[in-house]
Amino acid sequence: MKSIIVYSSQTGFTRKYAEWLAQELGAVSIPLGEAQKKGDEYFEDADAIVYGGWVMGGKIVNGEWFAQKAPAWKGKKLAMLCVGASPEDSATVDTVLQDALQDGLREEARAFYCPGGIAYERMKLPSRLLMKAFAAMMRNKKDASAEEKSMGEMLAHSYDISDKKYILPILQYLQG
Ligand SMILES: Cc1cc2nc3c(=O)[nH]c(=O)nc-3n(C[C@H](O)[C@H](O)[C@H](O)COP(=O)(O)O)c2cc1C
Repeated sequence: MKSIIVYSSQTGFTRKYAEWLAQELGAVSIPLGEAQKKGDEYFEDADAIVYGGWVMGGKIVNGEWFAQKAPAWKGKKLAMLCVGASPEDSATVDTVLQDALQDGLREEARAFYCPGGIAYERMKLPSRLLMKAFAAMMRNKKDASAEEKSMGEMLAHSYDISDKKYILPILQYLQG
């Protein structure tokens, strides 16, 4: 089975998941910028194509690239890997997964969530400022839910909740 993993990653968590997947599948993982330079023939003989993007404000970064390409990839196993700072059991994960695949794509592809983390030291300045402001807002919010409070506290510092175990359902789907 030939698989191609394409990813967008700012601080490395999505890249790590893409590399784990590539390792297990004996596949290549390439950043989106590189994939965009390839012609359509590069993807033609692939049996499986995965796009991994990090979650920004509930949306998958560059998810539209995958959505535009997918109709031409009918018959292949297609998956979207979404990597965010929220734990896997967060109430927001379902919405992220729902929104990740637009109507037409739902029959063609499946979306999976893998928890990443926060790496302030590797974030670009605008991202760092936004995240810090968001974290402070969560911590200070009146009537915050228990989950919002705990998220606000988590986001005060960098953390890593990524784990290779989260790729298992994706492997099962691709190889099934
Ligand atoms: C501006 C901004 C918005 C974000 N929004 C979300 C979000 O809505 N949900 C979430 O789970 N994580 C969110 N995150 C956290 C990133 O998705 C998380 O740090 C992810 O692991 C980054 O992946 P990367 O290392 O591949 O760049 C946000 C991060 C930034 C900088």
